[in-house]
Amino acid sequence: MDPIYLDHAATTPVRPEVIAAMMPFLQEAWGNPSSPHAMGRAARAGLEQAKRETAEAVGVEPNQVIFTSGGTEADNLAVIGAALAARAGGRPMHVVTTAIEHKAALASCHAVCRLGGTETILPVDRHGLVDLAALAEALHQIPAVVSVMWVNNETGVVQPLAEIGRLCRAAGVPLHTDGVQAFGKIPIDLDAVDCQMLSISGHKIGAPKGIGALIVRDRKLVESILHGGGQQFGIRPGTENVAGAVALGCAAKLAVADLDAHVRVLGALRDRLADQLAVAVDGLHFHGRETPRAPHVLSVSVAGTEAEALLMHLDLAGICASGGSACNTGTIEPSHVLEAMGLDRALALATIRFSFGHESTEAEVDRVAAVFPEIVARVRELSATLHRA
Ligand SMILES: Cc1ncc(COP(=O)(O)O)c(C=O)c1O
Repeated sequence: MDPIYLDHAATTPVRPEVIAAMMPFLQEAWGNPSSPHAMGRAARAGLEQAKRETAEAVGVEPNQVIFTSGGTEADNLAVIGAALAARAGGRPMHVVTTAIEHKAALASCHAVCRLGGTETILPVDRHGLVDLAALAEALHQIPAVVSVMWVNNETGVVQPLAEIGRLCRAAGVPLHTDGVQAFGKIPIDLDAVDCQMLSISGHKIGAPKGIGALIVRDRKLVESILHGGGQQFGIRPGTENVAGAVALGCAAKLAVADLDAHVRVLGALRDRLADQLAVAVDGLHFHGRETPRAPHVLSVSVAGTEAEALLMHLDLAGICASGGSACNTGTIEPSHVLEAMGLDRALALATIRFSFGHESTEAEVDRVAAVFPEIVARVRELSATLHRA
């Protein structure tokens, strides 16, 4: 039987239209887009089109798109780049973020501290929503940037970005959002949320790994964190990944074109799985159910189990899902996201994530729902035996 892939928040397969769009830039128009000759001009044309398509998909101008190697680099450029720009303007390198960010944003803030700056990490409530009073307080210091993710990668919870943007705007502070899990899953309108910078990543929307972009409404907001040639206004020097950019442009265009239908399908699959699991298994705790949620993520804690064991049994049954915990140097730590939401440690360690994509089907969901009770029973039995021993 074919494996069932329910880990689209980790990565997605490359869409056939995207492969078709990028192939000419690997096989024929493979010139350097900075070269003035015909081969260079052909590559440049592809790059410019990719920029237009990406810009149109997120509702900005083409010259506001800076291609990067992915979401991680985009977050680094936004956070560290904004801190460096503040320093260059004689202002403190102070950055504000939240406790539930992806490590790409959190580690970028820590890097700012190592460069001599400071950080404020905002708490979240039990639903994973940012504490707006704490944000208002933090804004008194006029930070270089506030970075708040739009959609959380572990729970799918959507932050009240318009409210956050309004507070930042009133304080005259630029807002960056990690939109890696938001783009292609919820409507993106940067003006409506008063947001100056947006990170996106190709491999979450059907483009290959290793391409992403930072949308920067005003280039004065960031200084480059890489040094080299003058490509991409000098903000992101280095020969552009033309085929990757073309892939991102194509995937972005497709993501927006079928957004409404995709959201309906993903949400229905997620709810179908949640409803079946809730009936068949006791002791389940679904995260983000009482808040606005992106449609592609189902995060569930299974009391009396360990996520690692559940995932292993699911894998043996041909089902790919992922955990809410990170395994560092052999010790399994609960996810910092669930911990920040105040979830009990044992439950946090018993949390798994199913995430849906274009090729996900009801039949796959039903197969997962059919095998899950048996897997949970086995893991609970084993876990109880180990705890008795
Ligand atoms: C919310 C979020 N931000 C950033 C990233 C990193 O993106 P990339 O893998 O393109 O570096 C991810 C990837 O998992 C993510 O989910």
